[in-house]
Amino acid sequence: MILVGSLDDIPLGEAVRVDAEVPIAVFNVDGELFAIDDTCTHQDASLADGWVEGCAVECPLHAACFDLRTGMPSGPPAKLPVRTHEVVVDDGVVYVRVTESVEAAA
Ligand code: FES
Repeated sequence: MILVGSLDDIPLGEAVRVDAEVPIAVFNVDGELFAIDDTCTHQDASLADGWVEGCAVECPLHAACFDLRTGMPSGPPAKLPVRTHEVVVDDGVVYVRVTESVEAAA
């Protein structure tokens, strides 16, 4: 697992980016945490910089939306899903268990 940081450092409605093997974005949606690959599958944009609405994040570059629960894009221009990752909170500290492949995340 990789260390994300203190739960207090991820405010409601915000996201943080973690530099793991590939960058990972962790979102706080109404107190529920979601982790996905940070880089959009369309081009090189950081989804942590995107807009969160409900359980979806809109890419800041071309506005593809990804479901934070499944990683699936809702429509073009992104066609491929991002990986989702398990988030573990232990005593106020947030960790992410990185998923190996997109298939394993589905
Ligand atoms: S880079 Fe995300 S939709 Fe184009």
